[in-house]
Amino acid sequence: MNADDLLTLSPVLPVVVLHEVEQAVPVARALHSGGVRVMEVTLRTDAALEAIRRVAAEVPDVVVGAGTVITPDQARAAADAGAAFLVTPGTTDALLDATVDTGLPVLPGASTVSEAMRLAERGFDRLKFFPAEASGGVGALSAIGGPLPHLRFCPTGGITSDSAPRYLALPNVACVGGSWLTPKDALAAQDYARVETLAKEATALGTEAAT
Ligand code: 3PG
Repeated sequence: MNADDLLTLSPVLPVVVLHEVEQAVPVARALHSGGVRVMEVTLRTDAALEAIRRVAAEVPDVVVGAGTVITPDQARAAADAGAAFLVTPGTTDALLDATVDTGLPVLPGASTVSEAMRLAERGFDRLKFFPAEASGGVGALSAIGGPLPHLRFCPTGGITSDSAPRYLALPNVACVGGSWLTPKDALAAQDYARVETLAKEATALGTEAAT
């Protein structure tokens, strides 16, 4: 799998914050039941690495990766835990080197034209646009597509089920990222049926964008 394959797995890449390791497998199964075959577990909680380990071992139909990778050590730890891809909110040279060393597909974060150009210079042409809404949203991404039409983005940060179609309609957007498929209150209530419903709605966005 390369970064391009990663971006075509689902119109919405779920950004999942898990506080309980026990929730990893049920969440992954609920996403899969809703048609979403990919899951980004953010390394913002103590449960994240073990959550990745469990999903990789127990839910092989879901491609699980690590998000919020901000240090070289985290990149290595995520790879060791079985992450199938890495997502970073922004980049430093040391972090990029470490992610490349893992051999995994990487979605490095950028929010400006210069950052995107620097990443392209290093061979990355599939990028996370973060924080999408705060960085100018659909208008900014559309404008970036003028001088840099060869780059494809997964915008993330502040995107909702309402705004997602506007991003997905852009030629330089392959998918969008968002945490709305796994809302805090649904996870607190272990309401996996709701996660499945939200995943189904997200899956349908791909069909809408294609028509
Ligand atoms: C991320 O880590 O990519 C973002 O925090 C997700 O943003 P959202 O919670 O606004 O969807």
